[in-house]
Amino acid sequence: MIEDLIAEKARYIDSVIDQYLPAEEGLARNVICAMNYSIHAGGKRLRPMLMMESCEMFGGCVEGIINPFMAAIEMIHTYSLCHDDLPAMDNDMYRRGKLSTFAKFGEAMGILAGDGLLNYAFETAMGSFDILEQDGLDEIGSLELSYRIMKALRILADKAGIFGMIGGQVVDIETEDKPAGEVTMDTIMYIHEHKTAAMIESSMMIGATLAGAAREQIETLEEVGSDVGLAFQIMDDILDITGDEDVLGKPTGSDEKNNKVTYVSMKGIDKAREDVNRLSQNAVMRLQNLPGSNSKSGVFLKDLIEYLITRSS
Ligand code: IPE
Ligand code: IPE
Ligand code: MG
Ligand code: MG
Ligand code: MG
Repeated sequence: MIEDLIAEKARYIDSVIDQYLPAEEGLARNVICAMNYSIHAGGKRLRPMLMMESCEMFGGCVEGIINPFMAAIEMIHTYSLCHDDLPAMDNDMYRRGKLSTFAKFGEAMGILAGDGLLNYAFETAMGSFDILEQDGLDEIGSLELSYRIMKALRILADKAGIFGMIGGQVVDIETEDKPAGEVTMDTIMYIHEHKTAAMIESSMMIGATLAGAAREQIETLEEVGSDVGLAFQIMDDILDITGDEDVLGKPTGSDEKNNKVTYVSMKGIDKAREDVNRLSQNAVMRLQNLPGSNSKSGVFLKDLIEYLITRSS
């Protein structure tokens, strides 16, 4: 069963992330507790999973390099959720089945925990350079590995920033309260592509980059990630209307509460579902053009993309 396999991989990812979380000590302990709380609250761990499997699909790389990046992408994603829930943004009290970070630790710590996670993500990812000081890297060579790590860091930074996730969140917030007639489909696509797809693209691209995939292959994975990310956010907008709060672990009706025009409010729920399907099939088709798509990880990625169409959380 794909659900069991996904759950097993998520547990493994949890154990990897745990190795990189900061110790809850020192005078700034409170913010570290808030950071760890928001990460430990749970989550599907989809982005590290996509990263790990994309890396495997291209032959894999040593754990000391991929693991810090898997932890880092989940830290950036979790920071984006910490901030997304703040009163000035979506003002949501629940996340991952628990009080959201600001609701538990106060607004200032909610902001600082997000800042902390974002910065710590880069501190963690840069820890992958430590492996170069170890012996026995002759197979690939430390120059080649440093080059891969630097390319991966650049993807991580670009896709999370103002031309990626943050940019999408900015337009999402600015579009709030605008009358539906004033919001174009182009704007909705911009929001989805940036606030959500960018981080999914980044996950897949970093995995392949660390495994040494060729530029065109990484570009194809970027397109796969774009389709998966769009489908994922449309599904998120659908679940905001039709979902079960207990299963989702976050409030439903958040978009309506904040007067957001969404993909679903623009196109209707049936067309939205159809588009989730079409985008996911498109992603699978593109994926199958890549070498390694018949490997264990390639097949898992295909199954995972198809599973996401039917997700309820
Ligand atoms: C929620 O992401 C925010 C979106 C981009 C839609 P996820 O649905 O992956 O949230 P977690 O990580 O499982 O909590
Ligand atoms: C937020 O989109 C995507 C992020 C970058 C955090 P949403 O605001 O729809 O995400 P949820 O529904 O709160 O998880
Ligand atoms: Mg939001
Ligand atoms: Mg939100
Ligand atoms: Mg949502």
